[in-house]
Amino acid sequence: MEKQQVLVKGKAKTVYATNDPDKLVIHFRNDTSAFDGEKMEQLDRKGMVNNRFNAFIMQKLQAAGIPTHFESLLADDEVLVKKMHMIPVECVVRNIAAGSIVRRLGVQDGMDLNPPTFEFFLKNDALHDPMVNEYHIRSFNWATDAEVAAMKELTFRVNDILKKLFADAGLLLVDYKLEFGRYHGEVMLGDEFSPDGCRLWDAKTREKLDKDRFRQGLGGVVEAYEEVARRLGVPLE
Ligand code: TMP
Ligand code: ASP
Repeated sequence: MEKQQVLVKGKAKTVYATNDPDKLVIHFRNDTSAFDGEKMEQLDRKGMVNNRFNAFIMQKLQAAGIPTHFESLLADDEVLVKKMHMIPVECVVRNIAAGSIVRRLGVQDGMDLNPPTFEFFLKNDALHDPMVNEYHIRSFNWATDAEVAAMKELTFRVNDILKKLFADAGLLLVDYKLEFGRYHGEVMLGDEFSPDGCRLWDAKTREKLDKDRFRQGLGGVVEAYEEVARRLGVPLE
């Protein structure tokens, strides 16, 4: 597949057109951002680790019947995907309270959420990804009712699959963010699933093994991602 012009340069990934109008190449860079791009650093190996991690998870999800954009790994830091029209909302599921929900609702950090909770956020860094509800999504035509239903259903199915996958590796899936798009009318999972977009804690010690290490300046960011990958059996170089 021939990589052509840059279509989008995001904070951590660059998207390229290809000679196939239905396919894109995503390049995972070492750039790491937090707080909507306010904090930015280059972390050695992160592009490779997240690309391989994401490919592993996307294939697990596909095997479990979740439609995703994943096609094939092209290189250490590049993946071939289906070209989707992205829906501009982020779907967050929380199994344990952490991060913004603790600040917004004053609930206790680390409390179990039964049932898990779900939130939509608008993907807009300039507005700091404000929380939105289903009425906003309908009124502003970001997605149809059927697409909202599909995103919620798929996001919760992903939770069942990944909670177990991580639990078997001694990890708690605290929360995560998913983004979806349309491909020839079908809602599919896009973007990425990596420790950049979820919270993972060691099940025994509750040590943070995700991007909170970067946000909070704890160090050992990529080392933590590699530890998670090693426990799951993700092939890294
Ligand atoms: P939050 O606690 O900051 O709302 O984040 C919830 C989860 O979603 C957490 O795992 C981080 C992830 N997330 C992103 O990856 N990107 C984002 O822009 C946002 C708002 C959350
Ligand atoms: N993904 C967002 C950013 O990179 C928010 C975050 O992860 O803190 O700025």
